[in-house]
Amino acid sequence: MKIAIVGCGYVGLVSGTCIANLGNDVICVDINPEIIEKLNSGIIPIYEPGLSELVKENIKAKRLKFTLNLKEAVENSEIIFLAVNTPQSDNGEANLTSIFKAAEEVGKYINTDNKIIACKSTVPPNTGTKIEEIIKNKTNKKFYVASVPEFLAEGRAIEDFQKPERIVLGCNEFYSEEKLKELFEPYGRKDLNKIIVMSRVTSELTKYAANSMLASRVSMMNEISAIADIYGADITKIREGIGSDKRIGKEFLFPGPGFGGSCFPKDVSALAYTGSSINPVMLQAVLERNILQKQVPFNKLKNLLGPITGKTITVLGLSFKANTDDVRESPSIDLVKRLISHGTIINVYDPQGMPNFKKILSDDSIKYTESIYDAIEGSHAIILMTEWNQFRNPDFEKIFKLMKDPKVIIDSRNLWNPERMRKIGFKYDSIGRP
Ligand code: UGA
Repeated sequence: MKIAIVGCGYVGLVSGTCIANLGNDVICVDINPEIIEKLNSGIIPIYEPGLSELVKENIKAKRLKFTLNLKEAVENSEIIFLAVNTPQSDNGEANLTSIFKAAEEVGKYINTDNKIIACKSTVPPNTGTKIEEIIKNKTNKKFYVASVPEFLAEGRAIEDFQKPERIVLGCNEFYSEEKLKELFEPYGRKDLNKIIVMSRVTSELTKYAANSMLASRVSMMNEISAIADIYGADITKIREGIGSDKRIGKEFLFPGPGFGGSCFPKDVSALAYTGSSINPVMLQAVLERNILQKQVPFNKLKNLLGPITGKTITVLGLSFKANTDDVRESPSIDLVKRLISHGTIINVYDPQGMPNFKKILSDDSIKYTESIYDAIEGSHAIILMTEWNQFRNPDFEKIFKLMKDPKVIIDSRNLWNPERMRKIGFKYDSIGRP
């Protein structure tokens, strides 16, 4: 099939590449010439395992191309995916300026009947109807607007796209439903029930519901871990104890320094805004717990270290989770800001996230280092913030020697064994574990 993707950000790039890899002809469009130039020469602007190879392969096979020319892309495609940003406004509402602009531009170039405009961006209920109105004002041709939300998680996006647990198609007409089923059929070959068809507005809300449900699991575990801390109970065992109940399940129950990223904070806020007339207390609580949770690593540091002004603190991990260079809404931003305001000297290290973090915080008191050991040398305390694999089993004896007293470790991801840490001589604390 002939496909256009509007927006070469994270979602557009991964979706376009994977759809091309199925043998379709895909044209990805962006308004940023720098991004297009880089992509055409095989340079990927984000860190996502496996993506670079797949982009290069599909460019070479001439199934995937990147362009600034939206007209060419729309004219040559049967399905046009909108995958532009829907960032959060100050009041929590989703900012739909880019998506409406993209819809207007696409509408201008619709040259034949029956094109499908499929919205992949995460948008509030009934945005599809607005997109339809915008395009109607630009063309007399017959077209269809569908909602095809994406459920990719950063760091494992290629696998998520190629082996999806479900594909949601929000279609108000049979024609768009059939066409989109045809496109996604290769992923549903083994299990036809993977493709779930529903109305467009239901699909839009399904995406928000998925992220809000996942975020609420994380906030619930974070809250229970704080209660576990009061009583000396162990959240790891609690997770096993509740996760073995099929209705709860073991996945996505890891407490941590609070959720971040470009999706959960934005989408839970947008859903709360959208549902403000019903007083969405559950969603508000999920967000409030997350604000509190982001303070936990700092508070634990103060407890073990005492006065922190003038001390050297190492922050291990800046990206909002492992396997991504994305630092948007990362709990490390809150933490480092707090450390700066308390007059500490800060060493940081992250395998991928440092360039992006520097763009947000370039304070003189932050020293960006080359390795975990460089970062730790001479510091009084370590706060582990991201669960990168390379942080799982470092040389703790070496770390102990490199650190200055009182050698505090705050493990915000529960990566390390408390007993072993204390035996070596560290003053150690983690999240919800004795
Ligand atoms: C999330 C969803 O998982 C995807 O399904 C969705 O498609 C995506 O948002 C999106 O809307 O685009 P992502 O933001 O990449 O994906 O990251 P997650 O793996 O969901 O993690 C989100 C946050 O929750 C991270 O800060 C992570 O550290 C935290 N988390 C996650 C926990 O603290 N504990 C857990 O058990 C799981």
